[in-house]
Amino acid sequence: MSKITAAITGVSSFLPEYILTNKELEKMVETTDEWIMTRTGIRERRILKGEGKGTSDLGAGAVKSLLEKKGISPNEIDLVICATITPDMFFPATANIISDKTGIKNAFSFDIGAACSGFIYALTVGTKFIESGTHKKVIVVGADKMSSIVDYTDRQTCVLFGDAGAAVLLEPNNEGYGIIDSLLKSDGCGRAYLHMKAGGSARPSSHETVDAKEHYIYQEGQSVFKFAVKNMADVAVEIMEKNNLKSEDVAWVVPHQANLRIIDATANRMGVSKEKVMINIERYGNTTAATIPLCLWEWEKKMKKGDNIVLSAFGGGFTWGAVYLKWAYNS
Ligand code: UT7
Repeated sequence: MSKITAAITGVSSFLPEYILTNKELEKMVETTDEWIMTRTGIRERRILKGEGKGTSDLGAGAVKSLLEKKGISPNEIDLVICATITPDMFFPATANIISDKTGIKNAFSFDIGAACSGFIYALTVGTKFIESGTHKKVIVVGADKMSSIVDYTDRQTCVLFGDAGAAVLLEPNNEGYGIIDSLLKSDGCGRAYLHMKAGGSARPSSHETVDAKEHYIYQEGQSVFKFAVKNMADVAVEIMEKNNLKSEDVAWVVPHQANLRIIDATANRMGVSKEKVMINIERYGNTTAATIPLCLWEWEKKMKKGDNIVLSAFGGGFTWGAVYLKWAYNS
């Protein structure tokens, strides 16, 4: 019997309506559209507005439209994994809340926190449940309401992030399509450069932590940039070499969208021309766990069955990695 692989058989997204443009940011902090565009490639990002709205609403929006698109009943789903670093609450898991909001009652669900690499971590974990034969319909969600942890008085970070959710369905495939390989890495020394200072068990929330603005993203941009440029490109090249993929064999590169300069460096190292690189950072900014599935959703119609696709990400932790997959359908 041929090996069971886990194939993405559908993809969907949820984008909040509100668009925060660079022009608007110019009125909020000392910045310019020109600085943001040349340093990052971002022109606008989406923001989830509304009292009580959280990451689960982004994830549930994506899952609901995925189920509708695939014509699948929520009862058929047997696992939901949500990659996020902006959970609705400490507990329960946002995946539990997404399942409840979408009527998924026969699944177990949990979150994965690997920041910007969250989606490829979660995709790899979901893949194992399919490959083992124990689970048949797995939903992997990448969702982050980054606006909930962004300090809109800090020009160094507030221009970078946006809110979004996107989800894929994984199903067994016995024709060799789907996720072929993944390389996942982490190095906790990176926490010094990118973290949230308070609110966790090491430094619980207090008046003092709120006054000191310690519940926002803290990032030493240049240091993170150096690690990101090197590691995201290295791991993408490593997965190509491991699987004997030449540049011309790669149909699409799907990079995490943190900075256009990091994306360009990764594509150059892979020897892949820009037309084959999915880039939508200009319109959504860095949506953390949602960037990669958001690209897959936007490019869904262009991908062809059998296309070799390399996903690559780098993020807080540090975490990074790459996934090599063969696209499983034409749409
Ligand atoms: O996705 C998770 C992982 N995160 C990343 O991959 C992010 C990696 N880092 C980056 O993408 C870049 O480092 C940033 C986009 C965050 C910053 O770009 P940079 O080219 O590294 O700029 P910088 O931090 O070195 O700052 C250059 C100058 C500084 O001014 P001085 O010291 O040269 O006078 C900053 O104060 O730009 C200034 N600056 C700004 N100016 C206008 C910083 N932010 C802004 C801003 N508008 N928004």
